[in-house]
Amino acid sequence: MTATTHNFDQSTDALEVAKAFAERVHGKTIIVTGVNLKGIGFTTAQAFASQSPAHLILAGRNPAKIEEAISALKSEFPDVDYRSIKLDLSTQRTVRAAAAELLSWSDVPTVDIVVNSAAVMNLPERIINEDGLEMQFATNYIGHFLFSCLIMPKLIKAAQNNPKGATRIVNVVSLSPTMAQMRWSDLNQLKINKDLPEAEQPNYTTHRAWGETNPEEKSYLPLEGYNQSKVALLLFSIALSKRLYEKYGILSVAPHPGIIDTELSRDAPEYVMEAIKGMMEKRVFTAKTLGQGSATSLVSALDPKLGLPEEKDGKENYGAFLLDCQISNLPLPSTLSSEGAERLWTMSEELVKEKFSW
Ligand SMILES: NC(=O)c1ccc[n+]([C@@H]2O[C@H](COP(=O)([O-])OP(=O)(O)OC[C@H]3O[C@@H](n4cnc5c(N)ncnc54)[C@H](OP(=O)(O)O)[C@@H]3O)[C@@H](O)[C@H]2O)c1
Repeated sequence: MTATTHNFDQSTDALEVAKAFAERVHGKTIIVTGVNLKGIGFTTAQAFASQSPAHLILAGRNPAKIEEAISALKSEFPDVDYRSIKLDLSTQRTVRAAAAELLSWSDVPTVDIVVNSAAVMNLPERIINEDGLEMQFATNYIGHFLFSCLIMPKLIKAAQNNPKGATRIVNVVSLSPTMAQMRWSDLNQLKINKDLPEAEQPNYTTHRAWGETNPEEKSYLPLEGYNQSKVALLLFSIALSKRLYEKYGILSVAPHPGIIDTELSRDAPEYVMEAIKGMMEKRVFTAKTLGQGSATSLVSALDPKLGLPEEKDGKENYGAFLLDCQISNLPLPSTLSSEGAERLWTMSEELVKEKFSW
């Protein structure tokens, strides 16, 4: 049965989790995407750094910010070998370049843990990237799908010497799977919402709470692009574990970090910022510290009791989603669906024009 080892909760700090599972970090090679000093990518990296990994690879679109993060980590934990890699997740071209660079590093032959934490949120207007995809879906999901699949040979190599399940891909999600579902017929949000099939319509109550007026009459909603990307990342975890757990011992899970004051809303329109402020004042959400916000990613990456997702209470894939350091069955059934995971895998391979099998 998939489970967690400790009673960690919403107040647990990532450093405490890393200490509890120190042996799963020591000597390992770990990648974290999206590391900026004010975000939870940084405290995720910091927690790993505290337990002496062999290599800690920080991947991001802005080399100066990565260097800033590395010097902060070096001053605290000087003995770790830090590496930086320029990874711009917003186009497949730049993702392929980053993966090729990582694959070429002969002195880093294996990768034990990948934490896909980078994201953009609430882009005010629909942006279509050079691959023809909506930017939040492209960056948060397709970018991580392609990067993880391309570097898989290094994970498979690591898994040969690791206990079953110790090699991990952690896809950082959000509460989106508890309130949104895949918009299969309209990934780029071109259709008017009310004209979509019932099963693909956005959750209008949520969008109103986030400041939208008349969301039924609109096509692009800033939050919906983000939701799509995060539901897709959860389905990606399910598809990865299905392909890789029994065969190689590679596990993938998807944590929601909680609500943390970071730079994530840097692009959000004013009306969304006002709505977020109102929800915080009404205590709809309770904010976590950066360290608490990365604790669930650490449990997801390290807890040896986590295993292959299973069916529970009529929902599939219990164990694929975690929040507040524990497994949670809160996501909607469609976001935990094995069939949905396979459908998305096929769609994703078409979108990146490459098939992956290992
Ligand atoms: N904060 C919350 O309340 C909350 C809630 C739910 C889920 N999450 C999730 O937690 C994760 C971390 O978010 P955060 O709150 O720490 O936000 P953040 O401070 O905005 O960090 C996001 C990181 O992603 C990077 N990034 C953005 N676009 C990129 C691209 N095209 N290529 C590569 N990297 C890119 C950013 O790089 P730059 O620094 O260069 O911009 C930054 O390092 C995200 O997956 C987010 O969805 C956060």
